[in-house]
Amino acid sequence: MPQPQPPRTSHAAGSTEPVGPADGSPVRPRVLLLFGGRSGEHAVSCATAGGVLRAIDRAKYDVVAVGITPAGQWVLVEDDPDRWSIVDGRLPEVTDGPAHVLLPQSTAGRGLQVLAPDTVPVAIGDVDVVFPLLHGPFGEDGTVQGMLDLIDLRYVGAGVLASAVGMDKHFMKLVLAAQGIPIAPFMVLRPGDFARNPAGCTQTIEALGLPVFVKPARAGSSLGISKVSSLDDLPAAIAEAQRHDPKVIVEVGVVGREIECAVLGSVEGERPRVSQPGEIVVTNSEHGFYDFEAKYLDEASVELTCPADLPVEVIARVRDLALRTFEAIGCEGLARVDVFVTADQQVIVNEINTMPGFTPFSMYPRMWQESGLSYPDLIDELLQLALSRRLGLR
Ligand SMILES: Nc1ncnc2c1ncn2[C@@H]1O[C@H](COP(=O)(O)OP(=O)(O)O)[C@@H](O)[C@H]1O
Ligand SMILES: [Mg+2]
Repeated sequence: MPQPQPPRTSHAAGSTEPVGPADGSPVRPRVLLLFGGRSGEHAVSCATAGGVLRAIDRAKYDVVAVGITPAGQWVLVEDDPDRWSIVDGRLPEVTDGPAHVLLPQSTAGRGLQVLAPDTVPVAIGDVDVVFPLLHGPFGEDGTVQGMLDLIDLRYVGAGVLASAVGMDKHFMKLVLAAQGIPIAPFMVLRPGDFARNPAGCTQTIEALGLPVFVKPARAGSSLGISKVSSLDDLPAAIAEAQRHDPKVIVEVGVVGREIECAVLGSVEGERPRVSQPGEIVVTNSEHGFYDFEAKYLDEASVELTCPADLPVEVIARVRDLALRTFEAIGCEGLARVDVFVTADQQVIVNEINTMPGFTPFSMYPRMWQESGLSYPDLIDELLQLALSRRLGLR
């Protein structure tokens, strides 16, 4: 028998003991911060959680920190920002613990429970909103979003379809192209395509023109991506991408500046807001492009400039395309839209990230900071948007 529901509370990290609000203060919305997860971006997600745990306004929100182990187990974890930071290249990881988290079982309630081995479930209070700080498959791709929709639990960010489309570079490109948004030419390699017909695939890729970028269709943080300048390197690049996803895309290399824009959803009926654009410059040419090491381990070799030094007219086009891209996939909450600006000032959309890097040093919060919205205020804004969101079909 589950035990009776305790009063709305915060709880001691990692424990199953509910603790009542001692000071009689008004009940705050209870936020479930969800991070880690099954994807290759597990550690990046933990680092994001560290940033949010440090900045979230505790006077306004109660926080429940829930980590997902690489194997997919949901556990109640330490609510300590330091535990979840990347320090000296050491990547944080959620490990299994005694308190497994059970979501509400239906739309009838919002009660969370924890389950330790050989015990009955223990209620640890309601949750009002989930902040899925998950990057990559099984988190940013609509799977977790679908689970939350099934039980009418509100959450920050894109819904099922937009998450799935944003995650899958193949379908993302199809959706953007269908709405007249410029993208780089590409081809798709489905599982077995290359093994069955290496010569034919190589020919098609050669016709795209080298260099090409070979990417897992559904990954992020540059994991599994190679720049291929010689056809001899193609089989290894495809094999590397396939380590992350059996579906691979091969895309024409674009010569251009890397510009990003942050988009923030609005309340229903209003257009999303778009930040000032920022620019990424990888100064250490050893990286070749903006790869995983440059993003997280060798940040000294990357310059992030915001606002990007671009003509006013180009900035206007970049921002317009960012907005159209957000709306093209039916996105909600937040997204970062990344584009290339070529020497002749063409703007080509590279991708949309529905859960962009979100540490205080990441581009998304920095672009909002530059546009007048601080990191803590951004977190607050996202939570308020999610709390006001309609349930069911939107
Ligand atoms: N078509 C391309 N032309 C030039 N550079 C590219 C291209 N595609 C990817 N890159 C480089 O690789 C990086 C990661 O690729 P991206 O598609 O953004 O994947 P991820 O989702 O892993 O961030 C980009 O930031 C850019 O530096
Ligand atoms: Mg990217």
